[in-house]
Amino acid sequence: MKNPSAVKKREENPIKLVWLITLLSFSVGVFMVYIVWSTLTSIRTERENLFELKENFISIQTKLENSLSKQKSVIEDLLEVKLSDSSQNDDYILVNLLKDYRQVVSDPILAPAFEKLDKNINSLLSTKNKITWWASAYNRTVPRIPSAKKEVESILYKILETVDKAEGQQRLDRAAMIRKIKKNYSRGSKQVDIAIINQLTEQNVYSIIRRDITDLVQLSERLHAIPEADNLTDLKDNKIRTLLARVRMNTKLSEGEKSSEKIELYSLLDDYETAMFGQGYTIDNDHQTIILGYDGEYGLILDRLRMESEKEILQAEANRIYDNIELTLGEVTGRTNAITQQEVIKVEKVLRQTWRTMVIIWIVTSLIYAMLAYEIIMAARNQIKALADSNIELEAMADELGRSQERLHRLSSDLFSVQENERKRIAFELHDELGQSMAALKLQVGSIARRLGDVKPVDLLPVCDEMRSNINQIIENVRRLARDLSPVVLDDLGLQAAIEYLVNNFSKIYNVKIRYQYTDINHLFNEDSQRIIYRILQEALTNIGKHAGAKHVSLVIKEEGHAVRFTVKDDGRGFNVHKTLYTKDAERGMGLAAMSERVRILGGKINIVSRPGIDTTVTFAAPIK
Ligand SMILES: Nc1ncnc2c1ncn2[C@@H]1O[C@H](COP(=O)(O)OP(=O)(O)OP(=O)(O)O)[C@@H](O)[C@H]1O
Ligand SMILES: [Mg+2]
Repeated sequence: MKNPSAVKKREENPIKLVWLITLLSFSVGVFMVYIVWSTLTSIRTERENLFELKENFISIQTKLENSLSKQKSVIEDLLEVKLSDSSQNDDYILVNLLKDYRQVVSDPILAPAFEKLDKNINSLLSTKNKITWWASAYNRTVPRIPSAKKEVESILYKILETVDKAEGQQRLDRAAMIRKIKKNYSRGSKQVDIAIINQLTEQNVYSIIRRDITDLVQLSERLHAIPEADNLTDLKDNKIRTLLARVRMNTKLSEGEKSSEKIELYSLLDDYETAMFGQGYTIDNDHQTIILGYDGEYGLILDRLRMESEKEILQAEANRIYDNIELTLGEVTGRTNAITQQEVIKVEKVLRQTWRTMVIIWIVTSLIYAMLAYEIIMAARNQIKALADSNIELEAMADELGRSQERLHRLSSDLFSVQENERKRIAFELHDELGQSMAALKLQVGSIARRLGDVKPVDLLPVCDEMRSNINQIIENVRRLARDLSPVVLDDLGLQAAIEYLVNNFSKIYNVKIRYQYTDINHLFNEDSQRIIYRILQEALTNIGKHAGAKHVSLVIKEEGHAVRFTVKDDGRGFNVHKTLYTKDAERGMGLAAMSERVRILGGKINIVSRPGIDTTVTFAAPIK
């Protein structure tokens, strides 16, 4: 059996371990929760910042783009000479948006891009200013062209009218001259004034002027259709100037000439030139050019042409700036996206790492827990097993104790009943044998006494013989009784002889052959031990006689070291030793129990082996005393 204190110690260890593991797992759990919580919080903040940044960036970018497109439409309106007043505020918004943008996306790599953007937006604003100026100038200039045109046209009309009138007059004059010559001719005057003839053959100067003025009308008209300033100048300096010079020459008064038409035409030409080339113009024929004055139709047309070409330049400039802005904005967007993307990737990497670490910690902790749990389970199982074992042992001990107690109890009651039976047997013996014999003896003595006077003493002899035989029988019975009560042989002749007597008696009573093999053992045991050994052998033989139905029996007594081994064997029907010994049957006999008990008192060991239907062997060793 195991030491109880050792069991207790083993019991305590797993409990301590469980506490330790619980404490450990609780701490690890708290630590893990803290790590995960703090990491996730920082990641979440990081992510939120990022999204906020992106949203901010997107909103500013959208605003900037909207503002830029508004600027674009304002500029387009200006270029279409649609003037409005609100455009200054938009400039301010644009500049502020850019400032915000730079603040939100503060990335050193983006600094040059922002510089570029800044510069472009400034030049966009200054271009816009230029366009505004241009638009107001255009607005001032172009609407005046139709009225100037009208004025020029009306002067030209007047010129043509005057020319027509003068031409008509000249024709009339010539017709009158011809009529006069014809009249003179018919009167017989054959002589014609050569001067008149010359005059008549002269070409009508007004026809020439009219042709020139018609050309001038056409040229004035063409001025409006010319798309380029150079062509316009060419028309002015070469064609118009030449025409005008010719007309001037043709309208010049020759000496002594008095022509109110020419004078009028001359002044009308002045009007035309002023209306066309402006107040204070000069015609520089030496240099073959007309230097413009102020506010003429030509000047307005030229201004318009110049403004239109300037418009193209301004538009191209604005477009170039837009392209640059778009390009730079694209750069900024790309870079900003890259930055946010990088941040997102970083955050996601950290997130992934956190998860991985958590899983690893979880796996490792689980493994440790599993190992510890395994240890605990094994320890607990061992402990349970140990407890169960000790329980079985205890149960077996308790059973054994119970059985021993029962055996003792039964033995004592058996001893008591044996004693009782013995007493009864003695009483029966006394009653049946001695009582009867003594009664018969008493009757015989009475009959002798009665017949003493009547018969001869010789006649009493048979009665006396009978009495003697009765007395002999009584003596024999008393002896037998005394012998049964105590093995007298044992006291008188020792164990060896008592056993021999027992064997012979057994053989005789049960009519069974017995093989008896022995060594001298008388001197090996004290009186008590001898008596016990005798009783054990007596019970063994009695059992054979009562239950075995054996044909052969052997008794072997052998000295072995410090003990003597007794072996009683029979070839009877045998029995189930275990069942017989351990069945709690109130009816079962006490012989085997008494035998075991007696062997135990001797300090020896008994072994009963039986093969049902074959044989039974009872062996016991008694230590020599
Ligand atoms: N040698 C034997 N051969 C066969 N059966 C035996 C033998 N010895 C004992 N037994 C069996 O074992 C039983 C128990 O024996 P035990 O001596 O204890 O009781 P008992 O002989 O029946 O009664 P008692 O109390 O008078 O001895 C017997 O009833 C018998 O069935
Ligand atoms: Mg018996």
